[in-house]
Amino acid sequence: MPEPAALGSGSLVIASNRLPFDYERGPHGLTRRPSSGGMASALDPVLRKRGGGWVGWPGSGVRPGDDVEAPGDPYRVIPIHLDAEEVERYYRDFSNRCLWPLFHSLPGRTAFDADCWNVYRRVNARFAEALLCEVNDRSLLWVHDYHLMLVPELVRSARPQRTSAFFLHVPFPSYDLFTLLPRHEDLLRGVLGSQLVGFQTRGCVKNFLDCAERCLDTAVDRESQRVMFEGRSIRVGAFPIGIDYSRFEAYALNAPPRVERHQRVILGADRLDYTKGISQRIQAMERLLVLHPEHLERVTLVQIAVPSRCQVVEYQDLKCEIDELVGRVNGRFASASWSPIQYLYRSFDHDQLAGLYRDADVALITPLRDGMNLVAKEFVACQVDDPGVLVLSRFAGAADGMAEALLVNPYDLDGTAEALHQALCMDESERQRRMTALRVREAEHDVHAWVDALLRSAAESRRG
Ligand code: F6P
Repeated sequence: MPEPAALGSGSLVIASNRLPFDYERGPHGLTRRPSSGGMASALDPVLRKRGGGWVGWPGSGVRPGDDVEAPGDPYRVIPIHLDAEEVERYYRDFSNRCLWPLFHSLPGRTAFDADCWNVYRRVNARFAEALLCEVNDRSLLWVHDYHLMLVPELVRSARPQRTSAFFLHVPFPSYDLFTLLPRHEDLLRGVLGSQLVGFQTRGCVKNFLDCAERCLDTAVDRESQRVMFEGRSIRVGAFPIGIDYSRFEAYALNAPPRVERHQRVILGADRLDYTKGISQRIQAMERLLVLHPEHLERVTLVQIAVPSRCQVVEYQDLKCEIDELVGRVNGRFASASWSPIQYLYRSFDHDQLAGLYRDADVALITPLRDGMNLVAKEFVACQVDDPGVLVLSRFAGAADGMAEALLVNPYDLDGTAEALHQALCMDESERQRRMTALRVREAEHDVHAWVDALLRSAAESRRG
């Protein structure tokens, strides 16, 4: 079996909606910082190590002609500029108001209209063209996430010999949910233009195979995980993503020493997104203080909420809801010297986050549904000192491989409060035992192992 690195003359070309950088225009031109979101933080170290190219949208602040690359960049950055209508209809409406809630099992929030579907198709075609300009004969094209589900088939129909892989970072829903979406067959056909289709969990693979079989009337081999479609055999598999474990561990080791505090810390860190269950988490904290008043004045929930998708009305509403909730719970319990919730509405760099992860007593990571949730893994990598406890939603993909966490149903506020109480009372030897098992697994299944597994499968599917 060839080593993955020998796959294509060093040429891995990634396409994702967002580039791994956010750009801001200042008096001295553009400045950039890593973009938020798990996908960018997972894939950037991969391309740094292997080289190649990354095709994506640099954000609305960047104009055609601006230089998005920085001296010494270890891979090429190829910007796709979107006009105002495209940002609104492709990114905001179809990707984030239609696919995002549906794929996260929240169909009541899903809005579809035919116009945004047309713009989605148009933008996907632009990405496909840009990718085709970037590749040579041995490159592997790797298309990411729900924004670009039509790209694999557009690439294949333009150049049938071109190999591509597709990976979905978010959950793939059940047949009953997926088929609520008009044009769902087109999305399936789009993805099946790849030779390899990867998902975060076995549950997502099962959902996808069910949908392919029932919506497209194709033959599906569940044992070998293949879909036979239009004379091709497409490999489908679960490839749970990891993090750049050693980088996070090093950040934690090098972070400034712990600041002594009077309270123990429960940490939550998320993009401000309704799928992350932040409102439910604050209410679970409230229940903890009611059910176990011994924690009053002794425990603080530090909740980081990174601003996200601020143009989408549901996210603006969520911001108001959380502002209000934090005010209500703090108003109810705070004393002159203590507040139960510290709410930080801004982004943090990875090295700053690592110190917060390391020093937290408990991480409370309770999405209502999540493809994977890399914050859970980052927290684990940063437990280089006295180990904390991970309280994790069973609806995060990460829960499949983290049995030693305390798994909760985020809709069950009292259940989550009891898990928090258990975490705060857990003795050191049990914390140590659970965390050691989690750390060994995450160190082994890091992001580089993930890429190797995917590329190996891509090489196999390319051969046969
Ligand atoms: O992880 C899912 C995802 O949509 C990524 O594709 C994306 O980079 C991240 O969330 C952040 O979202 P956005 O790019 O819309 O800010």
